[in-house]
Amino acid sequence: MAQSKLTIDGRELEFTPGETILQVAWRNGVRIPTLCYLKDATPTGACRICLVEVKGARTLVASCALPAAAGMEVSTDTGKVHTARRLNVELLLSSGDHNCLLCEANGACGLQALAYEYGVQAGRFLGMTQTYPIEQDNPLIVRDFSKCILCGRCVQACNEVQVNRAIGFGYRGARAKIVTAGDRAYHLSDCVFCGQCVQACPVGALTEKKARGQARTWETSKTKTTCPYCGVGCQMYLHTKRGKIVKITAADNQGPNFGRLCVKGRFGYDFVHSPDRLTTPLIKENGSFREATWGEALDLVAAKFKEIMASEGPDAIGGLSSARVTNEENYLFQKLIRSAVGTHNVDHCARL
Ligand code: FES
Repeated sequence: MAQSKLTIDGRELEFTPGETILQVAWRNGVRIPTLCYLKDATPTGACRICLVEVKGARTLVASCALPAAAGMEVSTDTGKVHTARRLNVELLLSSGDHNCLLCEANGACGLQALAYEYGVQAGRFLGMTQTYPIEQDNPLIVRDFSKCILCGRCVQACNEVQVNRAIGFGYRGARAKIVTAGDRAYHLSDCVFCGQCVQACPVGALTEKKARGQARTWETSKTKTTCPYCGVGCQMYLHTKRGKIVKITAADNQGPNFGRLCVKGRFGYDFVHSPDRLTTPLIKENGSFREATWGEALDLVAAKFKEIMASEGPDAIGGLSSARVTNEENYLFQKLIRSAVGTHNVDHCARL
């Protein structure tokens, strides 16, 4: 595709027609802060944090929404730009109840980080702020509109990333808020609880109910793994504190899910730490089970298989594997059945 050139902070950079100033800047390591920008979604230009100066333009422009043009001269790091960003952060801070001490997003909040970076003090614009009761009528997601900055990332995540179309902007002016159809609670709406809105929220307006109070961001470790549910193999991060999962988020920039998860992958991790979970092999003797070691259990299974193979032949045995394990594990399983047992009687629950 044809490439053109523009200048950002004195550097001549190439762009592909259709790219925004922000995309060209980020691709070339130029930092421009954002709040409402959501990758792969239509820019909303709602937060005005990504403002930059473009030579010849009458006002500062939102770099996330303005396409790059040949010959453009862009400045991202001027006094005018910083003054405007600082003011916009201050306005956002003044628009709600942003008490970081008690907020679940403390340490992982885009607004908090920018307020610190720009040395913003709240209080200059105290006026009419809407307060809303916290919505926690459903078991998975807590909505606190007092912390919402109306960036619209949750709407874009729901409508354009997951294409569920369960939420949108509602009301007008100071009463504006994110609503479901008819402004009903999540559990009474079309929401399918994929939690993509929670992952997209840059502040503490949308949080996972089970994760609340479990760990501050800086106390957790992130481990990348494969979702254990269906055969798609979505990539995700386990957020753990002292070996216990406190939250799951999707891994960005990697297939097959590219930052998406469904309700099971994101919220269905209780079984990992369930006290009912079987973690020790059991062997049935005289009608009741006793705990055994893995070596003992595997030896017993192998001996029984050999008995059956000797008396009935390998085709008397069949193997059924599961979509809950990885492709690699399924490959090894069929190899075990074909090579060690000697039969092609092997199948999989997700086979079409
Ligand atoms: Fe550009 Fe919000 S990131 S306006």
